[in-house]
Order: sequence, then C-alpha cells, then structure tokens
Amino acid sequence: MARDKKLIIGNWKMNLNVHESSLYVHKLAQIVKVHRDVEVVLAPTLLALQTLSLQVNYRQFKLAAQNFYWRDHGAFTGEVSATQLHGIVQYGLVGHSERRHVFGESDKDTRSKVQAALRNNIRPILCIGETTSERTMNETNDVLHDQLVGGLANVTSEELESVIIAYEPVWAIGTGNNATAQDVATAVLAIRSQLKHLYGARAAEKVSVIYGGSVTADSAADYLALPDIDGLLIGGASLDANAFNTIVEKAFKRSKVHK
Ligand code: 13P
Repeated sequence: MARDKKLIIGNWKMNLNVHESSLYVHKLAQIVKVHRDVEVVLAPTLLALQTLSLQVNYRQFKLAAQNFYWRDHGAFTGEVSATQLHGIVQYGLVGHSERRHVFGESDKDTRSKVQAALRNNIRPILCIGETTSERTMNETNDVLHDQLVGGLANVTSEELESVIIAYEPVWAIGTGNNATAQDVATAVLAIRSQLKHLYGARAAEKVSVIYGGSVTADSAADYLALPDIDGLLIGGASLDANAFNTIVEKAFKRSKVHK
C-alpha cells in the first residue's frame, strides 16, 4: 500500500544546551521547507523544550520529549511527567535503546509510559530492536514480539492509530553500522505481522512504522523507498542542518512518488 505521509524525527540526545538548541532551530527554520506530506519532529534536550515550543512554527516543526516519567504528578523528585509536557510536545520517545540498555528500562516501564503519553494526548514513539547477540542467536523476531507486546499491552486498536513504532536495532545505533534496506524490510514485515496478530489487519496496516540507526543523508533514500515504511528516526545526522534537510527533502520526494 502507498504510505504517503512521512515522519522525520531528529533525536538530538544529550547534545546542545538551551541557547545552542535555539540557535540550531533558527538555522533549521531557514532551510527546512514545509511539506504537507512530511511531518518533521525535533527531540531536543528536555531543558530546551519550553523555549523551543515558543520559537517553532508548528506547521514546520513538531516537538518530542526524549523521555518522561509515567506517573502524572507526585513525590518523584527529579522526574518530568507527560502531564507536564502536555501542550509543549506532540510526541514522546518511549523505550529508546539507550533508555533500555543504559538505564535499565523494562517492558513494564515502556508500557506505563505508552499509557501515560496516550492519556496526556502525546503520541508515543515506541522504540524496539534487538542487540547484536540477540541477532546472532536468531532471536530478532522474539525480541520484537516481546517488546511490542510488552509496550502495547492495554493499548486499544483505536489508540494504536496514535502510536508510532520505531525499529531501532541496537547494533545500528550510533555505530555507523547501518542495517541494509533488506534488514529493515524484513523487520518491518515481522512487526506488522505481529501487530496484525494482536490487533487485526486493518489496525496493523494503519500504524506508522519508522526506522532508526546510523541513517545518513546518503542512506535515507534506500529506507524511504521501502513500501512499508513511514519515516526515519535520526540521531547523529539530525545535528547537521544540511544532512537533516536533505533527509527531509528525500522524504518529500518519496511521499510524492507514492501518491
Ligand atoms: P544514530 O542515527 O546516531 O545512529 O542514532 C539513532 C537513534 O538512536 C535515534 O533515536
């Protein structure tokens, strides 16, 4: 099926302070064109979200939180909730590989965060993907299944339409060791067939599935050409304005091709 709306998300991770983030958005705003069929989302440091929410033109850029806590309020020193982010961000990353593997987040945590995002009107981007050793041991499909079922438990098929699934194989993140288009096509097929099993064919077809892991301005087109993919989650290359803009333009071309 033609999937004509593309989603390009830049995850800046723990880079740029508030001032630098603001300058960088100013630079991006001058070069990134608004395209009806491409949604461009920026995920800066949490600290910069408030400032950028006042700075960006929402037709040009939407904002995403890189992380948040799943309770809405209370005695949770140091945490920020989806309730507090409501009105500032439109998207929230959940279960990013660095959250899972550096900070030990479990599927139970991701499930609670998906729920928190949905009840606060924030679209969750549920990140899933296997490690090198899981891949070597042929466990990719099992990992994708467990992380999908774990993160989506309690999500209704109606709510699923607001969820984005990001396939981010751990071995491809920040390594320059990017997955081939064939690797991604295989994983996305597995994801959609598991979603079909969980929610039925129509819901599985509608859900947005994106890829992330060492995507560059050069490699983006290969992934965007896959018929079943809805966009890209970009780390390193999102911090280079020209590279990021090139990726947005490639997404635009792809969205037109499929009309
Ligand atoms: P890189 O593009 O730097 O590999 O990062 C991918 C990623 O983790 C995006 O969330």
